[in-house]
Amino acid sequence: MHVAILGCGYVGLELGRQLIDAGHDVVGVRRSDAGLAAIEAAGFDPTRADLTDASSLAALPDADWVVYAASAGGRGVDAARTAYVDGLRTVAETLGERTSPPDRLVYTSSTGVYGDQDGDWVDEETSPDPATDRQRILLEAERIALEETAAWGIDGTVVRFGGLYGPDRYRLDRYLEGPVTEGYLNSIHRDDAAGAVAHLLATDVARDEVVLAVDDEPVSKWRFADWLAEQCGVSPPKKWTVAEREAAAEGEVSRRVRANKRCANDRLHELGYELRYPTVRDGFRPAIETYRTN
Ligand SMILES: NC(=O)c1ccc[n+]([C@@H]2O[C@H](COP(=O)([O-])OP(=O)(O)OC[C@H]3O[C@@H](n4cnc5c(N)ncnc54)[C@H](OP(=O)(O)O)[C@@H]3O)[C@@H](O)[C@H]2O)c1
Repeated sequence: MHVAILGCGYVGLELGRQLIDAGHDVVGVRRSDAGLAAIEAAGFDPTRADLTDASSLAALPDADWVVYAASAGGRGVDAARTAYVDGLRTVAETLGERTSPPDRLVYTSSTGVYGDQDGDWVDEETSPDPATDRQRILLEAERIALEETAAWGIDGTVVRFGGLYGPDRYRLDRYLEGPVTEGYLNSIHRDDAAGAVAHLLATDVARDEVVLAVDDEPVSKWRFADWLAEQCGVSPPKKWTVAEREAAAEGEVSRRVRANKRCANDRLHELGYELRYPTVRDGFRPAIETYRTN
């Protein structure tokens, strides 16, 4: 298949590597020189384009499958609206108008759209309840990916990732140094985030569906931090309840910090995906080994 990965960063580069290995023809889209060089180094074709600028998308060859994985990073609400809502709409319209529009579009969203569920389990049947402007923007982008694409005859799929981690993104210090605020961690290793998207495309499942991509085990941040400290041979970090964190911050902590839920991945399993790293205990092994040898 001809595949275009739009916003080809941390997950996109790994997805491209996996799709190339499976014999597909892959193009990665970014704006920066460094980003384009990273795509080339990963072994597939870079195309410079700004996803919010229809004219620059003319440089993109026709694709059967499109994966929208652009991110606004940690920037503000306006940047998020541009990266997710404006970009997706521009892509859907521009590629939809082509003589050969894409067959499928996968948008990589976030489990953040559930907002705060008081630590309860959530799955694809649970109604999203965004708690912040940013989360509302992600939900609006999901609607574009599923509904506005349909107007162009493109089948949309939304994959909601848990917290991404993996090579270069273990952030060990955050847990080892603490303080660690209570709540559940819902994670997905980079290779599984990419692997899940590649699987849904390759097996031709989950058209017009939302699928959660998280690992098998939401884990208490406190328990995880203690386990990690033990594995690294250091003392456990200080722990904070949300109230303690609030007191330390001298004000209300963000609704994102308060958001607490446990994400189920039964649907991902039903669809036949086998996780390479079923738990963070599996996925953090290399980071622990590096820590212990340095
Ligand atoms: N990080 C997490 O824990 C997490 C959790 C849930 C969901 N997600 C979602 O997962 C997806 C992948 O995340 P990631 O960490 O792989 O992202 P990432 O590393 O930040 O890569 C995305 C790339 O998109 C490019 N980009 C942004 N705006 C663009 C535009 N207008 N035109 C062209 N390219 C653009 C940027 O590269 P240039 O600057 O070079 O253009 C950026 O490096 C994102 O949709 C993110 O929201 C992430």
